Amino acid sequence: MEISIVLGTRPQIIKSALVIHECLRRGLEIEIIHTGQHYEYTLSQVFLEEFNLPQPNVILGVGSGTHAYQTGEIMIRLEKKLIDSSPCIVVIPGDTNSALAGALTSAKIGIPVAHIESGARSYDMKMAEEINRRLIDHVSKILFAPTLNCKINLEKENVLGDIYLVGDTMYDVYLNFGCKIKSREILSELRLAEGKYAVLTIHRAENVDNLTTLRNIFNGLKEAELDIVFPMHPRTRDKLIEYRLGLPRNIHPINPLGYAEMLTLLKHARLLITDSGGLQKEAFWAKIPCITLRDRTEWIETVKMGVNFLVGSDPIKITQALNYVEDSYYRIKTIYNDNPFGDGRASERIVDILEDCVKK
Ligand code: UD1
Repeated sequence: MEISIVLGTRPQIIKSALVIHECLRRGLEIEIIHTGQHYEYTLSQVFLEEFNLPQPNVILGVGSGTHAYQTGEIMIRLEKKLIDSSPCIVVIPGDTNSALAGALTSAKIGIPVAHIESGARSYDMKMAEEINRRLIDHVSKILFAPTLNCKINLEKENVLGDIYLVGDTMYDVYLNFGCKIKSREILSELRLAEGKYAVLTIHRAENVDNLTTLRNIFNGLKEAELDIVFPMHPRTRDKLIEYRLGLPRNIHPINPLGYAEMLTLLKHARLLITDSGGLQKEAFWAKIPCITLRDRTEWIETVKMGVNFLVGSDPIKITQALNYVEDSYYRIKTIYNDNPFGDGRASERIVDILEDCVKK
């Protein structure tokens, strides 16, 4: 095997989609290993189908569990597979537990790791993903930085691998799939009018696993004059049931969405309210402002541009942000030339470098 790619979650499939396609187009031998961290149709299979990706060659079937269980179990199951297929290089997208387990396993059996979305830092060690990406970057041989800021972060940390500023593969996917969506079916299905609703997602452990935090967020959002559509991650759904916490009347829960439906909702919304990393960028590309339910973000570029507002889970800050975000709804539509996330060719550049490694 020339290349193995290890993924297991929704954002990892999005980040890898065009890299996989580009490898296949060039006839490179690539094996997709799915850890099974995400196993529901709406969090995994729907994305493989939407991006026309082949079914994974290997499914490790690890499922949910504590961080130690997930990371350890993936490592144990993956080690055998990687020893069997013995790839020249293992590609790791993102910062999930699947990514950490993939990187550690490969590095420890001496297979070079190439990390997609390297150097992203929130400087918040309460986030599991921050721990994961720091560790991944320090065992990687090849580090694909999506932005200049990420490259600088890596240089400051003196990582041992080679850093390449390539752009953001999520932006490639946005241009190839997200931009081209014409159907607005989801808007009529949900009876939403252009520019008259907000989209909400909350799934981070720091927000979801704490009743007071969730309650604070909803208390802040209930002041919004807009209707808020809330595609709900299963983790959040389960926690609301466990806490017996009801939603304010202006928040409308729906099932998790695939890529095209989510991007359609974003493109026609007034704003996004989220604790996701990837969606902060997708809102920027879709030209809608974002209120981020975190104290820190790795995508600081959008904050500096004044179109992404960090409010944590403080209900007062959330309510204030709902008022001042209005200005940036118009301003963001005029930002054309300033995109720190590359030119839509990150995946090609990544595969150029992978191809060179495989040939060596
Ligand atoms: C994971 C990633 C996070 C990423 C997110 C995208 C880590 C530490 N976190 O978070 O970085 O932004 O994916 O969604 O890797 N569950 C289901 N069905 C599934 C998967 C999960 O019901 O298919 C529920 C289970 O109750 C599970 C919980 O969600 O315990 C958490 O799942 P997990 O994969 O641990 O983390 P995510 O919250 O999805």
